[in-house]
Amino acid sequence: MKPGSGTTLAAKPAGSGTTYETLLVTTEDDITTIKLNRPAKKNAITTEMYNDIIAALEQAAKDDSVITVITGAGDFYCSGNDLSNFTKIPEGGVDEMAKQGGDLLRKYVKAYIDFPKPLVAVVNGPAVGISVTVLGLFDLVYATDRATFHTPFSQLGQSAEGCSSYTFPKIMGSAKASEMLLFNKKLTAAQACGLGLVTEVFPDSSFQSEVWSRLKAYAKLPPNLIRSMEKDRLHAVNNAEVERLMERWTSDECFNAVMSFFQAKAKL
Ligand code: COA
Repeated sequence: MKPGSGTTLAAKPAGSGTTYETLLVTTEDDITTIKLNRPAKKNAITTEMYNDIIAALEQAAKDDSVITVITGAGDFYCSGNDLSNFTKIPEGGVDEMAKQGGDLLRKYVKAYIDFPKPLVAVVNGPAVGISVTVLGLFDLVYATDRATFHTPFSQLGQSAEGCSSYTFPKIMGSAKASEMLLFNKKLTAAQACGLGLVTEVFPDSSFQSEVWSRLKAYAKLPPNLIRSMEKDRLHAVNNAEVERLMERWTSDECFNAVMSFFQAKAKL
């Protein structure tokens, strides 16, 4: 069975067999696959899931696989930060929530910056927020033609993370990056590919078979990755973005946007 099909018959659990509440992690054909597994919530990333992904990346870094893939279960790749993370206010209030969120975000993005093997995104459907912004830290991004790429930060009273304030202008030029990161422009897969954020787009009907046969062939190549000389800069960008976001998370704009997301649901 190929990874990505939702079945893990021929695959073995990664590393020491760690299992995760929110992820399916398997190793097969020299590829470790980390599949976001909250399809009913469009794979929105909860606090627990951020920690699970960090742990799975640390495990994948150490196992004997050659390539690591991140993909999503169900019809979405990922709907970004789970907005209910903002509704769980700890004892220290909103400032403490922002501090804890900032520490977690810094650690999460650091796990991508420091990842030592080729990292591939298999974008099986729409992608939102942080699942889009970290794509600039991947080595390959394969997308189905059903995928879209959306970073509605200003709509939510927030600001960009995942080093995208640095990687996106570098990848696509500052004008196109601003359209996405400042003004919420949603891109089709073809547009994202045209701008260099996506490596290649495949028809949805053949997406899984084409991508996995290609990755299996790549995983047989001898390892030759030299990690970016830019790590120091990326860490600095990550820190600066987190500082800015911690301030944004305590703003009325952010609070009101999160409340309206949940109120709109309640009205349905
Ligand atoms: N945080 C929390 N819950 C989310 C979520 C998110 N980021 N994305 C989806 N969900 C939940 C929905 O609330 C819904 O929950 P319910 O079934 O308990 O009501 C469920 O996932 C399915 O989503 P739904 O909105 O019904 O699906 P859809 O196809 O109509 O829309 C999205 C999908 C992703 C476009 C929409 O849910 C959305 O806009 N989510 C917010 C995305 C976002 O702003 N992310 C943060 C970016 S910084």
